[in-house]
Amino acid sequence: MTQKPSVQNDAAFFELLGGGKEKPSEKKWGAGMVIAGITGGAALALSVICLPFVSPALRRVCLPYVPATNSQVENVLKALRGRSGRFVDLGSGDGRIVLSAAQAGFTPAEGVELNPWLVLYSKVQALRQGLSSTTSFHRRDLWKFSLKPYPNIVIFGVEEMMEELQLKLENEVEAGTHIVACRFPLPKLKPVATIGSGLDTVWLYTPNNNKEQEGRY
Ligand SMILES: C[S@@+](CC[C@H](N)C(=O)[O-])C[C@H]1O[C@@H](n2cnc3c(N)ncnc32)[C@H](O)[C@@H]1O
Repeated sequence: MTQKPSVQNDAAFFELLGGGKEKPSEKKWGAGMVIAGITGGAALALSVICLPFVSPALRRVCLPYVPATNSQVENVLKALRGRSGRFVDLGSGDGRIVLSAAQAGFTPAEGVELNPWLVLYSKVQALRQGLSSTTSFHRRDLWKFSLKPYPNIVIFGVEEMMEELQLKLENEVEAGTHIVACRFPLPKLKPVATIGSGLDTVWLYTPNNNKEQEGRY
């Protein structure tokens, strides 16, 4: 005599498969939810981390994260040799120029950076290198940051922002301020020195110092 399928038999069969009171389809659904949750969470976390790196492309002036080379950093320090006091790197990235400036004796050496991960990374590096008391990193927009208190300013920008930045610098900096532009020069100011070559070139300016002597292009 063949046994007729019954509700009790089905349940016993699923129990035998190790499913307890759950049907296999319910188990699969549960596992699917867990996998979807994990991948969704990972994708969200990745987006949160990556967004600050891609968002510069959406701004009026696109200034992406491109770290200075070692020889660029050396050229910046050469340009400011003999100088001291307050220092700022506008768009400080991972903090390498600020940390090198602090090591060279600039105090405080500060960075202005929009990307929160790069600000965090810079602070951790400062801590690791024992420079946290002589450095600070501000999570701020460089266009809204006052440059007046800084006698030493560094910018590694992009060509399309340099003219606007030059106006901001000329309006805000005190006489005697030394400005170093990396890779792209300030378009309408004559540099007092050019150091390095190719992509690592830096230009030194003292815009409100002695306008007659420097002259304009
Ligand atoms: C070309 S990288 C230079 C990084 C660093 N100064 C160096 O030389 O290694 C420019 C940096 O400026 C930051 N940045 C872009 N727009 C900014 C803004 N409006 N205010 C502050 N930082 C900005 C970017 O996130 C990027 O880290």
